[in-house]
Amino acid sequence: MSELSRIEIAVAHIRSKLSSGLQPRVGIVLGSGLGALADSMEIEVALPYQTIPGFLSSTVEGHAGKLCLGTLGGVPAAVMQGRIHLYEGHPEKDVVFPVRVLCRMGVEALVVTNAAGGIDRSFSSGEMMLLTDHLNLTGRNPLMGENDEAIGPRFPDMSVAYEPSLRAIAHEVAAVEGFELREGVYAGLLGPTYETPAEVRMLRTLGASAVGMSTVLEVIAARHMGVPVLGLSVISNLAAGLSLGPLSHDEVKETADRVQDRVLALIRGFGQRLLAS
Ligand code: HPA
Repeated sequence: MSELSRIEIAVAHIRSKLSSGLQPRVGIVLGSGLGALADSMEIEVALPYQTIPGFLSSTVEGHAGKLCLGTLGGVPAAVMQGRIHLYEGHPEKDVVFPVRVLCRMGVEALVVTNAAGGIDRSFSSGEMMLLTDHLNLTGRNPLMGENDEAIGPRFPDMSVAYEPSLRAIAHEVAAVEGFELREGVYAGLLGPTYETPAEVRMLRTLGASAVGMSTVLEVIAARHMGVPVLGLSVISNLAAGLSLGPLSHDEVKETADRVQDRVLALIRGFGQRLLAS
């Protein structure tokens, strides 16, 4: 079966569960420790990933694995509560499948969030960073293999991976809410080990401001389909070697949890301004 057919089967399944005919305008991917944001939605349906054809369920603690459809601050939205990571051992096309489904459903923008380690020395844990660009250092690409022109072009342009006008909207919301948003380049690595201090020094030399184990493949898939992206990292910890003590997933989840309200205010305000613009 073609990838497009797989995507369309999932889209039809999701639409069949939406008796209201809700059309999501924004797609949102919630990263580590940010899943509770979906609790602030007016949810029409929450579909566990294992019930949607083609979706895999995430095995990572802190990633619930549900697609929530409804409204967030009045904005029709499709929210992925949990994502699949490459380090779980799945093929890249399965990692990006849910994002392709959201894009095919016609979302006008994709918001991808993640928890990341801060490499920029001026970052502190708990800050938020808008992605201006990324380094795909996973060694993989979801567009490998035969290309389906009906999904997107063989050689997609990535010179504007993260849409500046969407960042401008996010900055406006942050100003109203009274907090600062940093900007920087996200290095996406395969994981699941955290980096060594030498790797973190290398990443800084390469121009990275933050590092994580997700996002880049999803953004490639969305850009392939022509959907504009807003990327947001919660700096959940300082990257290896920048602080005393070992890194842990508990620290990542705790920090993300601590700033969840800000992330929610930002995403909600972003959706409202996007639709008003
Ligand atoms: N490195 C990689 N991924 C991460 C980190 C980190 O320091 N923090 C949260 N996700």
